[in-house]
Amino acid sequence: MSEWQGRTAVITGGGRGFGKAFAEALCARGAHAVLVDLDRAAGEAAAAELSSRQLSAQALQGDVTDAARMAEVMDLAAQRHGGIDLLINNAGLHSDEYSKPMRVLGIDKVRRLFDVNVMGTVTCTLAAAPFMAGRDGANVVSLSSMAAYPSGTAYGASKLTVAALTIAFASELGGEGIRVNAIAPGMILTETIKAELPEATMDFVRAGQALKTDGAENDIVEAMLYLSGSGARFVTGETLRVTGGMGAGV
Ligand SMILES: NC(=O)c1ccc[n+]([C@@H]2O[C@H](COP(=O)([O-])OP(=O)(O)OC[C@H]3O[C@@H](n4cnc5c(N)ncnc54)[C@H](O)[C@@H]3O)[C@@H](O)[C@H]2O)c1
Repeated sequence: MSEWQGRTAVITGGGRGFGKAFAEALCARGAHAVLVDLDRAAGEAAAAELSSRQLSAQALQGDVTDAARMAEVMDLAAQRHGGIDLLINNAGLHSDEYSKPMRVLGIDKVRRLFDVNVMGTVTCTLAAAPFMAGRDGANVVSLSSMAAYPSGTAYGASKLTVAALTIAFASELGGEGIRVNAIAPGMILTETIKAELPEATMDFVRAGQALKTDGAENDIVEAMLYLSGSGARFVTGETLRVTGGMGAGV
């Protein structure tokens, strides 16, 4: 029997891209997936698609920056399934736009970027933790980015903060048996990335990878399955780079 059988995963930004792919992989292994998305239609369509295949998925609309709603969402997920085993902090603003200079973005957009990527991670982790404490194998996986490491943009700075929060929460929640890790994907050709990233930028990124192949959604799903599974029972506070060796080095 799969180790995910009957376990409950709350996935923010579950309506599309990585979030939807995470939900699909976990449900296929017997988990209950709770898809939290700002975009009600996307979340409901993703959950309906999974449910039509007899998989256990439910959509809950919400903004990860809304602490009251996130408390409600975690409570609803826990009431329905008896607790929360896995939280995936995946919702994030990442379009090409947020790599523009901050002078161009302006204070309101920079604030919203940090609200969603940074405070959204804090808000959801704090809201889920009480329902995860003491559950065997409970853990959090957040989405950082390879852009964290040069960190030359507001987006990169927000994702470096996600890596730092991963260490902070690993320290804070380890005593309750909750592991906290993150994934830093390189360029992965999700629908959003394909629609938004100019081909020239894609070629520039490819040139910086050690592996001359494109990253696919499944590469990030496999990293999530490793970090959230029992094979990583002694791993916490880590951010795993899945980048094809982009900027490889110490
Ligand atoms: N695709 C990549 O190459 C890549 C690379 C590095 C990191 N990431 C990170 O991975 C995560 C997912 O990326 P993706 O490409 O699947 O994104 P996506 O844009 O395809 O999907 C993100 C989902 O999050 C939802 N969302 C956005 N803001 C929200 C909010 N405030 N509250 C709730 N839901 C919200 C959106 O409605 C959407 O359904 C992001 O955090 C992103 O920064 C992606």
